[in-house]
Amino acid sequence: MIKRIKRSLLLVAILGLTALFFACVGPETSNGNEVTSVLYQSANTPIPDRVNDLVSQMTLEEKVGQMTQVDRQFLVSENHIKKYFLGSLLSGGGSAPSVNTPESWADMTDGYQEKALETRLSIPLIYGIDAVHGHNNVYGATVFPHNIGLGATGDEDLIYRIAAATAEEVRATGIDWNFGPCITVPQDERWGRHYEGFGEEPQLVSRLGAAAITGYQGENLSDSTTILAGAKHFLADGGTEGGRDRGDAKISEEELRRIHLFPYYAAIEAGAGNVMASFSSWNGEQMHGNKYLLQDVLRGELGFDGFTVSDWAALTLLPGNYDQQVALGINAGIDMVMVPDDYIRFIQSMIRNVEDGNIPVERIDEAVSNILVKKFELGLFEDPFAPRDLLETVGSDAHRAIGREAVAKSQVLLKNEGSILPLSNDIKNLVVIGSLSDNIGAQCGGWTISWQGSSGDITPGTSVLDGIKELVGENTTIYTSLDDASGVDIDAIICVVGERPYAEMQGDNSKLELAFAHKNFIEEASNHSSGAPVITLLISGRPLMMTPQIEMSDAFIASWLPGTEGGGVADVLFGDYNPTGKLPVSWPRDISQVPVNVGDENYDPLYPFGFGLSY
Ligand code: BGC
Repeated sequence: MIKRIKRSLLLVAILGLTALFFACVGPETSNGNEVTSVLYQSANTPIPDRVNDLVSQMTLEEKVGQMTQVDRQFLVSENHIKKYFLGSLLSGGGSAPSVNTPESWADMTDGYQEKALETRLSIPLIYGIDAVHGHNNVYGATVFPHNIGLGATGDEDLIYRIAAATAEEVRATGIDWNFGPCITVPQDERWGRHYEGFGEEPQLVSRLGAAAITGYQGENLSDSTTILAGAKHFLADGGTEGGRDRGDAKISEEELRRIHLFPYYAAIEAGAGNVMASFSSWNGEQMHGNKYLLQDVLRGELGFDGFTVSDWAALTLLPGNYDQQVALGINAGIDMVMVPDDYIRFIQSMIRNVEDGNIPVERIDEAVSNILVKKFELGLFEDPFAPRDLLETVGSDAHRAIGREAVAKSQVLLKNEGSILPLSNDIKNLVVIGSLSDNIGAQCGGWTISWQGSSGDITPGTSVLDGIKELVGENTTIYTSLDDASGVDIDAIICVVGERPYAEMQGDNSKLELAFAHKNFIEEASNHSSGAPVITLLISGRPLMMTPQIEMSDAFIASWLPGTEGGGVADVLFGDYNPTGKLPVSWPRDISQVPVNVGDENYDPLYPFGFGLSY
């Protein structure tokens, strides 16, 4: 009897001590049964306390779910958001609801959010998208010039306003995170992502990148009009050898820092909440596995305190088997993984890696906390759904006016012999030719409606030709072919030529030539019996090697990829806007000069960085 009492006392003592131990230290993860504290749900609690309260209650599965990002097109079932505690979804280029309207985007993202809120801890999703020149996946959204054109404006205030307008359109559709701005410093125009950068010069990129981040994130991330900004791609995506996409930057640490790291200082100072790692390597080492750069430099030196995300399936490019790739990336400092497809395999691998001790639980807690801080800052726990009152801003007149202003400011007048420009609105017979004169898809370039973009009427907008038609007076006749104008006393011929749309991978180009048919437009125009002056407009994401065609033209304008508001091009042609655009990149004489960048020894491009005429 006494023995039994003694044993009971011992048991009570052990239980008491165990309880005391857990009360002090806290269990590593909860058993997932009950929510023991709802402190994290209270908006009045400081964010660090909310994060600690929440993380201390999460199971390993719930934590891993937060670190998992899935493209919505690969969701096996919407219920998997709940089943696997997914923390984030994305729409990659063109991953749109079957009916592509702003409303159906909002319905879609709200539907996913409802599933996430049904989980035990009701942690809202964060939804990411590439709104890299406006909310470009959404039919009817305002499509602004790609960054290279914005670089030509050099105008921080404009870029801030574009980013703020984009944030409204994005948030309206229930999306809270932009994979942008791209603050690459492209050094080689052969790279298919050259146009995603503001220019080849670090100070310019730094200034404009910070303006974009401030515009996206606003004063306060929790405002319903702001979104999280993601600076990408860390690091030296624009410094790869031969301009190869996902290639290797074979450069010294001095150059890495002076050119490619430089804009990250301003980006982090501006409060960028997210950084995406680059597909590329530095001297043979994949960025996704580079702990020195992702942790020591980015967090340690630069003081980044947001969360990092991998690029699309990028961990699978790391050395080793799948589990080793996952462990390498997470241990190097990737907080969230854009899986984006086989999420069940990823989740299982993560759990195995933690259980086998390959990824420390502390690293998981750190990653999850980094993500949750931003979810709290965005106010997602309080307002998880699309603010539908903003839907009317998608493609609104006010936003299109900012677009038109940006287009006008981005035109770079490189040649204007005999001051042929500006044209008079009273011009009698104007010929407008070239396969890109009336082509919204080409004006928008890649990352528009679809991943690579495409030609034609892909979304509502004003083509260059529409813009010209709006500005000419009643006395003007516009001909759209030289044949139609035969026998007519032609006053000027405008040739709109350039590149077909492209994006990453498919846009790499070792020759950078105008297509044969496009060269022909310029040649025919310049040889035309009328002797009319030729104005060449180049729609492209980069300089093309076209010195002979520039020589054949009386005037030459780099129009970049202006987006949906072609009226801004016409504003410059007719002098409603006196051009101010300056080259954000050096313009090579021919392909043998590529790469050529300001500051190079024996620098002698056709047009130097910063060049641009006015009237
Ligand atoms: C690109 C990223 C983009 C991601 C999601 C990747 O292929 O490199 O820039 O954010 O896809 O669309």
